[in-house]
Amino acid sequence: MTAFAKPSPRLASRIVNGILSIKPLAALAKNRARNMMIQRAESIGVYWRQEVQTLRSRQSEAEFSSDWETELATIKNPNLIYPDYYLKSFHAYEEGNLGWEPAMEVEVAAHAVHARIWAEAGAKGDAWLRQSYHAALKEHLTSDPQTILDVGCSVGMSTFAMQATYPQAQITGVDLSPYFLAIAQYRAETRPTTDSPKPTWLHAAAESTALPEASFDLVSAFLIFHELPQTAAVAVLQEARRVLKPGGYVALMDMNPRSEIYAKMPPYILTLLKSTEPYLDEYFALNLEQAIYDAGFEFPKVVCNSPRHRTVIAQVR
Ligand SMILES: C[S@@+](CC[C@H](N)C(=O)[O-])C[C@H]1O[C@@H](n2cnc3c(N)ncnc32)[C@H](O)[C@@H]1O
Repeated sequence: MTAFAKPSPRLASRIVNGILSIKPLAALAKNRARNMMIQRAESIGVYWRQEVQTLRSRQSEAEFSSDWETELATIKNPNLIYPDYYLKSFHAYEEGNLGWEPAMEVEVAAHAVHARIWAEAGAKGDAWLRQSYHAALKEHLTSDPQTILDVGCSVGMSTFAMQATYPQAQITGVDLSPYFLAIAQYRAETRPTTDSPKPTWLHAAAESTALPEASFDLVSAFLIFHELPQTAAVAVLQEARRVLKPGGYVALMDMNPRSEIYAKMPPYILTLLKSTEPYLDEYFALNLEQAIYDAGFEFPKVVCNSPRHRTVIAQVR
């Protein structure tokens, strides 16, 4: 059995993709998605514009001397060659993940998007989503991991949440966006001090981290797989297998293609979603369980941790 499947979009999806191939229409859809998200955020108490302004104005804060460009220089790997699939427009940002605007908005955007997962959650939806993932980890991992690799760590939201669950663990966050990592590093520096080891940040591709083999107990991938074409998804799983110790685990949390919510989603919403997520069709068509097995893991356990997300956990075979 192969993990790859050619996406065979239904008629509605084909029409949607046709619309998105016309540039002015695609730009319109992206702009609409962005405005909807800002409005939604502010209506539930996530003060989007204010939060972003606070981050932007960091330069004028007396207690932190370095500015954003200096922070960027400390984290950026100047020799990194970005994979072509990453140099795309994502989430309605022309520059994709490679810019300050997406980096400063990603946190509020996550709160806005996740506010709708559970009707009663509101602004707590993002925290609940992370808690539901960690509850699945706690249930299925045989012991608490001491070394964790958080792939696609972005601005550190998944890293800090993981740290709260496993406070003793040494966590490394890896991401392709140096802008996101600069924010993660700043957040780590300015958080209240705890006894937990400080996370380490790495500017690299999750599929070629150059980290030592057999050095982690857990590789965690929170909401990165839907951003990957199938070939990259498979390469990330192979890299996870390489860096995991014997008995280690890979765990993924992402959209659940089998959720009724996607099957029943009105075409115009799907249009907006696809205008911001270039590899969604590929992700939905990937046989993830098989791909995990093929990469050298046991057949995974799948937990539906929200009405539209799944957690997939597998141990090294
Ligand atoms: C939706 S964000 C998820 C962020 C984060 N894990 C969280 O919980 O909020 C996906 C992240 O994956 C990163 N990413 C995408 N492809 C990657 C790759 N091949 N290697 C490393 N990071 C990647 C993006 O830069 C982005 O920060």
